[in-house]
Amino acid sequence: MTKLNIIRPDDWHLHLRDSPFLEAVVADSARQFARAIIMPNLDPPVRSCGDALAYRDRIRAALPADCPFNPLMTLYLTDNTSVDEIRAASESEFIHGAKLYPAGATTNSAAGVTNLSKIAPVFEAMQKYGLVLQVHGEATAAEVDIFDREKIFIDESLTHIRARYPQLRIVFEHITTRDAVEFVRQADDHLAATITAHHLLINRNALFRGGIRPHHYCLPVAKREHHRQALLEAASLGEARFFAGTDSAPHSLQAKESACGCAGIYSAHCALELYAEAFEQCGDFSHLESFMSRNGADFYRLPYNTERVVLERSPWVVPDTLPYPESSLIPFMAGETLTWKLSLND
Ligand code: DOR
Ligand code: ZN
Repeated sequence: MTKLNIIRPDDWHLHLRDSPFLEAVVADSARQFARAIIMPNLDPPVRSCGDALAYRDRIRAALPADCPFNPLMTLYLTDNTSVDEIRAASESEFIHGAKLYPAGATTNSAAGVTNLSKIAPVFEAMQKYGLVLQVHGEATAAEVDIFDREKIFIDESLTHIRARYPQLRIVFEHITTRDAVEFVRQADDHLAATITAHHLLINRNALFRGGIRPHHYCLPVAKREHHRQALLEAASLGEARFFAGTDSAPHSLQAKESACGCAGIYSAHCALELYAEAFEQCGDFSHLESFMSRNGADFYRLPYNTERVVLERSPWVVPDTLPYPESSLIPFMAGETLTWKLSLND
């Protein structure tokens, strides 16, 4: 196989930040993807339809001229999100979900939900109006072992949300465990999951190979190899309720290489190539297009993109650094060789 020709993909989970960082990263995503679900964890967060509209305008203004990239906006749920805001979001054409960050779970999640019972009416409204719930699925109690956070969230929270709101459509974001794969598999079609390229490519050893590796630190943190194998299987078998979401999350070099470094891996510069690299490990590309370009659109009830993209087997080396305001950005796989290269059109 020397060429892979697929429908232009979408990124179902992306962090673009805000000016001036937005301008530094948005073109990377727009080069590969037609659309992306834009995460709302700005500071302050994207809490209202007005915030989302203004952020969308800033994203569009930061795009190269005539670029057709379509940012699909989300709201950030807080303890105070109102049912009216949910109804307005569901009636808008540009908001495609609302994100649940358990308070304290990750970057800019301090304003997140402190107790699920506080947003019961919001879940009810999302179910009623058909607005997708995107979930950062990690338990946040300090005593929970960091490698068990996802499994405990399933047992303590997600199972109950599913039971209580069976018609609520949920995306379990950036899953990292075999437990999550199994949970999604056994569920009905109201539950789907995104999988990042980095969780398909590294296990937790990558955080400590020869010393501490801050550029491999993200949340949820990478898990054991047998969990990575379960993710690879779910992605590469073409199962309909698993799809690509990069969780590309830029932080400056200084914010990463610090005594208390930020969580987040920047993968947007070559996301599609990274996913192709993961599928290469399975030796089967027959479901790459479903995973990258169809399953997510089906779940979000959006049409498929009409353009196509081509990847060529043409090894290349990922740059050591990328430009970032007053700093630099270390991309995932910096200095490593990747097998597949995006060649822009057919
Ligand atoms: O690693 C992560 N970085 N995980 C998240 O959930 C948030 C993200 C960020 O915004 O930096
Ligand atoms: Zn994220």
